[in-house]
Parts: sequence; C-alpha cells; structure tokens
Amino acid sequence: MDGPSGSGKSSASRGVAKALGLRYLDTGAMYRAMTWWMLEHGVDPADAGTVAARAAEPEISSGTDPDSPSIHVDGVDVAGPIRGDAVTGAVSAVAAVAEVRARLVAMQRQIIGDGDIVVEGRDIGTVVAPDATLKVYLTASAEARAARRNAEVAGSTVEAQQAALARRDRLDSTRKTDPLSMAAGAVELDTTALNLDEVIAEVLRLVKERT
Ligand code: C5P
Repeated sequence: MDGPSGSGKSSASRGVAKALGLRYLDTGAMYRAMTWWMLEHGVDPADAGTVAARAAEPEISSGTDPDSPSIHVDGVDVAGPIRGDAVTGAVSAVAAVAEVRARLVAMQRQIIGDGDIVVEGRDIGTVVAPDATLKVYLTASAEARAARRNAEVAGSTVEAQQAALARRDRLDSTRKTDPLSMAAGAVELDTTALNLDEVIAEVLRLVKERT
C-alpha cells in the first residue's frame, strides 16, 4: 500500500492485515527511526553526505504484529519520539539519501521474505515488492488528508497541517531516488469520501479478486 501522508494508509494496512491474519510492516516508521537516530547523534538531516556516511550505523528493528506495531533503534523503543515534530520535519530529507534507502529497502525485503504481509510506504509497489499480489495506491484530497492529520495532533490547525503535508509530498515525489509514484498495475483508491471500514472492505474485495 503506497500513497502520500494522510491518505489513510496506516489504519487501512493494519486493518487489512488483522482481517486476513497477515503480518504488517510500516516502512515509514523505519525512515523515521533512521531520522531519529541522526538527530540523536547530532547529524544535520540536510547534510546528505554525513547522513549517507552514517546510514549503516543504527540497529533498526521493526515488529510485524498489526495489533502492536513496534520499532526499536539500538534497543531503544522509539515508537513515541518518531511521531514528534522534529522527526516529522526532517524525515523527507533523510529518506531522500540513496544510502539510507538502499539499506532500508534491503531490510524491508528481508522482513517481507516469502510474503503473507501487508506493507505500507511510498515505494513498495515500485521498488520494494514490485511482484506483490496486490498493489494499492491510496489517495485523498489535500483537505481530507489535512483534516485527518489535524484530528490526530493536538494544538494544530487544518491550514498548518495542509502546508506541512504539501511540503512533505513535494519532497517525497520530487526526490531523485525512488520518488513517490503509482506503481504499474496498482489500483488507485481515493479515500476522500470513505470511512476506514469502507477502505478496508474495498481492499479486502481486491485481495479476494486476486487470490
Ligand atoms: O508514512 P510516514 O508518513 O510515516 O513516512 C514518513 C516519511 O518517510 C515520508 O514522508 C517519506 O519521506 C519517507 N518514506 C519513504 N519511503 C517509504 C516510506 C516512508 O521515503 N517507503
């Protein structure tokens, strides 16, 4: 499942994995974990050379249970801190570095193994698992995405969320390495007017069609 921030990927992917008894992998959390480590070690996320040189250092481990997704860096539980403003503001710069992507994509392929997993991200259908049984590209209007994010974050406004999402979308879809784009053979699902249960039901229908 690929798509921009706020398209509903996380909730939908977890819901589908739970419904089908599959594993679940949040690849965005891995880019966030790498970014958290860079910030902790005083690396400037805008300094692509240093980010590249140190990309092999953090020990990142991701759990694959959709009921309790977990993410650790060097043994530290970073599930909370990776959702903070510092990481969210820096992650697109770190994720644009080719060495970061090469390392995390290799880890993701290892976790995926023979499949039986729902994976969410930006480049899953295009790069990480182009042979996936089903590729879904989730979209939603800019307003709907900002409203969803705003509901999750205290003390923000829809306008501020919309500006932040637009910035991240621009960085994620214009970077040189593996930019966000819809994979060949992906099914586009616009979630603007759908609630979570409807999105999950539609994805389950698509899975059934193909298996
Ligand atoms: O999905 P989430 O918003 O947590 O992802 C955080 C960031 O990680 C994205 O904005 C993007 O820069 C990066 N990312 C990526 N490739 C993925 C998943 C996330 O570049 N497969």
